[in-house]
Amino acid sequence: MGIAAVIVSYLIGAVSFSYLIGQLLKKLDIRDHGSGNAGATNTLRVLGVGPAIVVLLLDCAKGIAAVWIGFAAGGGDPVLAALCGSAAVVGHNWPVFFGFRGGKGVATTIGVLATLVFWTALAAGIIAILTIAVTRYVSLGSLLFMIGTTLLTAVLHPVFNYPFVYVYFLAALTILSLWRHSSNIKKLMNGTESKLGEKVKSKE
Ligand code: G3P
Repeated sequence: MGIAAVIVSYLIGAVSFSYLIGQLLKKLDIRDHGSGNAGATNTLRVLGVGPAIVVLLLDCAKGIAAVWIGFAAGGGDPVLAALCGSAAVVGHNWPVFFGFRGGKGVATTIGVLATLVFWTALAAGIIAILTIAVTRYVSLGSLLFMIGTTLLTAVLHPVFNYPFVYVYFLAALTILSLWRHSSNIKKLMNGTESKLGEKVKSKE
C-alpha cells in the first residue's frame, strides 16, 4: 500500500503542466524556450501571466494531492505523507512521461510544505514573496522559501506540533532544490540571472 502510494504520487508529479499548456496554447515545448525550465516562472516568460498562474496552481496541487494520498494510505502516518510529497517533487523534476526532463520542483514543493507544515511555510513564503518583490529574482525567493521553511520548522516544530521527522524531508528537498537551481545560483552570483519580466540573459 505504502509503495503503491509513493508510485502514484511520483506519477502525479510527473504530469508536466507547463509542457502540456505550452503544447495546448502554442504547440511549443516550454523546455526549448526561455530558461528551458518546465515550470511556472518560465511559463510566465514564454506564455504570459494567465498560463503561469494556471501552471503554478496545478503544480502546487500535485504536491497537495500527493501528501493527502500518503496520509490516506498510511492512516495518518507522517513519514508516508512526506515520502509521497517528495515523490511528487521527484516526478515533477524527472517526469517519466516527458523524457525525464522536468522542472526545479518549487511549485510542487510549495504544495507539499503548505500541507505538511502550513505555518512555517506561510512565514517563509511571506519572506520569499517580499524578496521577489524587492529583487525581482524568483529563483532567490524560491531558495529562501525552501531554506526558511526548513530552518523555521526545525526551530518551531514543538510550537506547532509538527513531527520532527519532517525536518529531515524538508532538508532533503532543500538540498535537491539547491542542486536543481545550481545554474540560477551561478547566474545570481555573476549578475546574469534574469529578473521577473525580463528576457533570459543566458540559458541554463
Ligand atoms: O522555480 C523555478 C525558479 O526558481 C527559476 O526558474 O525559469 O528562472 O530558471 P527559471
